[in-house]
Amino acid sequence: MVLITLALVALLVTSLWLYSKHRLSYWAKRGILSPPTLPLLGNFVDIVMGKPGRWTFDEKVYRNYTKEGLGGAYVLLSPVLYISDPEMIKQILVKDFDHFSDRQTFTSLHKNDRTLNESLFNKNGEKWKRLRNLMTPAFTSGKLKNMFHLVTEKADALKAFCLKEATKNSYINVKKACGRFTIDTIASCAFGIECNSFEDEDAVFPAKVPPFFAAGPLRVLKFMVVAAFPFITGFIDLGVFPEEKFFFQQVAEETIAARRRGAKRGDFLDLLLEAQASEKNFPDDQTKAKILDDATIISQSILFIVVGYDTTATTIAIASYLSSKNPEAQQRLRQELQEIVRKEGTITYQGVMDAKYLDACIMETLRLYPPAPNLERVCSKDYKVPGTNITVRKGDIIEVPLWSIHRDEKYWPEPEVYNPDRFMPENKADIEPCTHMPFGGGPRNCIAMRFALLEAKVALSTLLLTFDMKTAPGFHDLDLANSSFLIMPTSVNLVLEPLTED
Ligand code: HEM
Ligand SMILES: *[C@@H]1O[C@H](CO)[C@@H](O)[C@H](O)[C@H]1NC(C)=O
Ligand SMILES: *[C@@H]1O[C@H](CO)[C@@H](O)[C@H](O)[C@H]1NC(C)=O
Ligand SMILES: *[C@@H]1O[C@H](CO)[C@@H](O)[C@H](O)[C@H]1NC(C)=O
Ligand SMILES: *[C@@H]1O[C@H](CO)[C@@H](O)[C@H](O)[C@H]1NC(C)=O
Repeated sequence: MVLITLALVALLVTSLWLYSKHRLSYWAKRGILSPPTLPLLGNFVDIVMGKPGRWTFDEKVYRNYTKEGLGGAYVLLSPVLYISDPEMIKQILVKDFDHFSDRQTFTSLHKNDRTLNESLFNKNGEKWKRLRNLMTPAFTSGKLKNMFHLVTEKADALKAFCLKEATKNSYINVKKACGRFTIDTIASCAFGIECNSFEDEDAVFPAKVPPFFAAGPLRVLKFMVVAAFPFITGFIDLGVFPEEKFFFQQVAEETIAARRRGAKRGDFLDLLLEAQASEKNFPDDQTKAKILDDATIISQSILFIVVGYDTTATTIAIASYLSSKNPEAQQRLRQELQEIVRKEGTITYQGVMDAKYLDACIMETLRLYPPAPNLERVCSKDYKVPGTNITVRKGDIIEVPLWSIHRDEKYWPEPEVYNPDRFMPENKADIEPCTHMPFGGGPRNCIAMRFALLEAKVALSTLLLTFDMKTAPGFHDLDLANSSFLIMPTSVNLVLEPLTED
């Protein structure tokens, strides 16, 4: 009996090992390099434990395991193809988009998790396309212009807060302050809630946001488990979105009810409700079930917090940090902004949009620190990579290692140097296409790029027109959160010295 059991166990272990070996030779068989793997786990441990984040592992693949623009790795036993050649990236993100319109999804079978299921980020195929088409009109520049005053109001609150703090403390954690600014802005633009987290330390709304961003190996693990084995979510709510989602669901439900009774503001919620009403006019949708029900709208509002809060706060905070480290660039930017205010009397929508050096500074910030350091696609129909004998199979995962491309000396001379001039109009032509993609690329890029840029530009302008910025004593380098998907500085401590009027 014992012998039989032992024999069975041995057989099982051997078969697992053989199966693992077979799966983990996927790239070798195709002539693609990949880093050493662990049985059954592939490169999983390296990816999850990568310090500070998984882009450290991506950099390893990019530098040492890439040949002719292609590299390989394994998440558990699933092969992942790294694409690092700009021409090939363009082909996949833009030209042959219909093979790569999907991402890994974090769907959940749990009834509590419709919020997760219905988000645009998580939809694939035809459903994604319909939802994206319905949502796109909410992000046009005309609509943005109507939201401009909502953004400047929050930037003024940021300024007032920093002025007050500057009298009390020798330095300010600008990352935290910018986080409050982006929360208030999203609360206002996506939920129609006026919260002032600068004045009100106990405001409920802001307190509910941080749990969505708790970084750590356990959370990364959760994401990967949900992506790899969605059936598990049928039994347990793994909580990819934390408990706080119920709070936001309720807030959004109440606001939707209020909007239906009147009181429009021109914010995202109004625009999504308009899209809902217009859905019946979409000719190709008449025979199909409506896609934009209330639960779906609520899901998008929550998504806007998840993808819009930390990314944008990080951008503003790091732009401020880089300005502090580069006083000449800071002074030049301030002069450009003062010129606008002299001409127009105040910061205007057009003024912010037209400011060339402001744009260049934000673009250079996003080159050095793209908040989302990699892009992902899932192949939806088999695809032969042009110029190679490699066929990507349906279901294969594609990664674009943004962080590494943004810092490759092949495309960026002195890549570690902060030099906004790279993005000035006279130099822009030198930038190779698809080597700067902080908002992704092709039809599935960041839907809110213009909104995010507007937010970042208004906040940075407001700060630079009010303060001279220096790094706080002892604060030399950014400390990025470990084990996060996103680039998240834990703090950005700056000395903000109010400018004297002259
Ligand atoms: C500086 C700030 C931001 C950065 C760097 C950023 C970056 C990105 C990136 C890289 C993607 C993936 C694109 C791709 O796969 O090609 C993305 C997708 C997305 N972003 Fe942003 N984002 C920012 C702010 C925002 C904000 C403020 C919102 C909402 C108000 C938002 C909403 C979205 C949505 C809904 C998607 C999914 C689009 C789709 O799958 O169709 N983002 N973002
Ligand atoms: C690439 O390999 C070289 C030589 O083994 C090593 O020194 C370097 O650290 C590796 N680069 C990365 C990013 O892992
Ligand atoms: C979420 O989506 C999956 C896959 O499309 C589906 O099977 C599941 O029932 C959905 N869950 C909920 C709670 O609607
Ligand atoms: C693809 O395979 C063919 C036949 O084996 C070979 O002649 C050709 O050189 C290969 N092309 C590339 C780009 O590897
Ligand atoms: C990340 O990990 C490194 C190495 O273990 C450590 O030195 C650093 O302090 C950690 N950073 C944060 C923000 O926890």
